[in-house]
Amino acid sequence: MNLVFLGPPGAGKGTVAQKIADHYDIPHISTGDLFRGEIKAQSSLGKKVESILKSGELVPDDLTIDLVKNRLVKDDARNGFIMDGFPRTTAQADKLLEITSIDYVINFIIPDESVIERLSGRRTCKNCGNMHHIQFMPPLKEGICDVCKGELLTRDDDRPEAISNRLQVYKNQTQPLIAYFQDKNLIKDIDAEPAPETVLERVKQVLEA
Ligand code: AP5
Repeated sequence: MNLVFLGPPGAGKGTVAQKIADHYDIPHISTGDLFRGEIKAQSSLGKKVESILKSGELVPDDLTIDLVKNRLVKDDARNGFIMDGFPRTTAQADKLLEITSIDYVINFIIPDESVIERLSGRRTCKNCGNMHHIQFMPPLKEGICDVCKGELLTRDDDRPEAISNRLQVYKNQTQPLIAYFQDKNLIKDIDAEPAPETVLERVKQVLEA
């Protein structure tokens, strides 16, 4: 099953993608995570994109497309994948459909107020990348990751100025992809407002219908 998860920042794409990936035994490919991995490793790509991620702007298409192409040729993506955060521009969508086919595009629908609430309360583990939310998914011990006991931090782009820029960037550059994929009859809308378990069940229902 080849899936794309589309939606504004903080819609819960990553939270649901990880569980769907485990359920269907397919990789969860998050371009944001791939870029953050490059930054952590201080690779030449990581150094190039560090300030872009911090501001909430998009990484140029050519760099992003190369990253995805290199990831999709790996063995674990042979039987399917979840693309989380890619494509984000029409050029990226054209390229993805040139490289492979897509079964469904899951469109996460959520109002701006919830995006702001979710992103400003998100805390990410410095070691393993696991996510918590101070209100909706609090860790057992404040500031400490439940999974690996690493330190929980606020992502640079989860600060207020970057959040509002990311929302604007989404509206200008990524939202037009809803119509793009609707034309191709690939879109499945999901109300992303309820609790994570409910959203997960709804996504599964769509995929198993
Ligand atoms: P990326 O990492 O993809 O960020 P994003 O799209 O902004 O998505 P997020 O990871 O912030 O949100 P999410 O929808 O996954 O929500 P989550 O599950 O974490 O991209 C980062 C940057 O990389 C971009 O700004 C850009 O610079 C660059 N980039 C990446 N891809 C690119 C591309 N294709 N082209 C160019 N540049 C690219 O949930 C958020 C919070 O809410 C968590 O705390 C979670 O615990 C909580 N939560 C989740 N679901 C629920 C729920 N149902 N109810 C209550 N709380 C919930």
